[in-house]
Amino acid sequence: MNRLNYHSKNKKKIQKNILSWYDNFGRHNLPWKNRPIYEIWISEIMLQQTQVKTVIPFFKKFINKFPSLKKLIHADLDEILEVWAGLGYYRRAKNIYSACRVIESNHNSKFPSNFDEIIQLPGIGRTTASAIVTFSNNGHYSILDANVRRLLTRLYDISTTVNSENERILWYFSEDLLPQSRSSDFIQAYMDLGSTICKSNKPHCSECPLSNLCITNTNNFEVDDYTPIKKSNKSVKQEKLWSLVIIDSHNNFYLEKISIGNLWSGLYSSPIFTSKARLIEWAKSKNLAHFFTKNFCSFQHRLSHINFTINAFLCNVDEDKKISLIEDNWYNLSNITIGVPKYQNKLIDKFRLE
Ligand code: ADE
Repeated sequence: MNRLNYHSKNKKKIQKNILSWYDNFGRHNLPWKNRPIYEIWISEIMLQQTQVKTVIPFFKKFINKFPSLKKLIHADLDEILEVWAGLGYYRRAKNIYSACRVIESNHNSKFPSNFDEIIQLPGIGRTTASAIVTFSNNGHYSILDANVRRLLTRLYDISTTVNSENERILWYFSEDLLPQSRSSDFIQAYMDLGSTICKSNKPHCSECPLSNLCITNTNNFEVDDYTPIKKSNKSVKQEKLWSLVIIDSHNNFYLEKISIGNLWSGLYSSPIFTSKARLIEWAKSKNLAHFFTKNFCSFQHRLSHINFTINAFLCNVDEDKKISLIEDNWYNLSNITIGVPKYQNKLIDKFRLE
């Protein structure tokens, strides 16, 4: 039987099994469930590159700080980055800020509710737009994130080669399986089933509601052969950075807006450089060179694709010698009110242990 006939014959059973699995085992208590579209939008942006369990505390903190779209529209980028700090992929926070500008000028400061308008906003692709519309009960649109892609690839034995034809087939199945009633539960079930049962490595086929319907499983094909090849299977790059941790005698840290690369741009940290020579040159230009006390610490900071070695020097400056540094850039250790990247928190923790 060809794949399309197989799908037509089994569609109802597949839908029913997915939904009853969701009723029993799905994630029903996520904090963005049944919330206003504004909160659903924030959650979906956070979930784009981050797992649910990591997102939950950041989502709560964000909504606590910006309980409404109106409050968020009044925020500047630094304030958004402050609550985003530590979640990573900071471009997402900048997209939220840019989307606010579009919402303010084109949508009368209200979050749009239809798919065509939502997908025009910065940082929103087809899957994110579909999730926002469907979870907010404004339409029935399906999704194709990595989890659904893997699940459908195995269920229908679709080639894992990434090309437009396979993409079209996957979208077709994803959309055609979506029931008109309970579409919101269904896409949540897709995500939950994909991430908790139809996992990339060692899927739990014996617990899967589709085990008898899954072409890969019923034919005893190797599930590993059906794991879509990750685009980001590149080797991890090694990079070195040098930081100058500048403090005064009252535990005030000197922090600057980060200007190297664009991984952390917009966040603040102790001055950071791509070479030791640059650090020294900068310190000399600020008359700080003679305050260096020691090679403070060195540690690894791993991101998904880069492993940084951060070498830090400590510089204790006297109260009356701070003149060459910008006065506004001093933040007390007990109350840092700006967004700092995770490596800066590591530096601060190391300083506390000193
Ligand atoms: N990934 C993207 N959106 C999600 C959601 N709403 N729940 C779980 N995982 C997700």
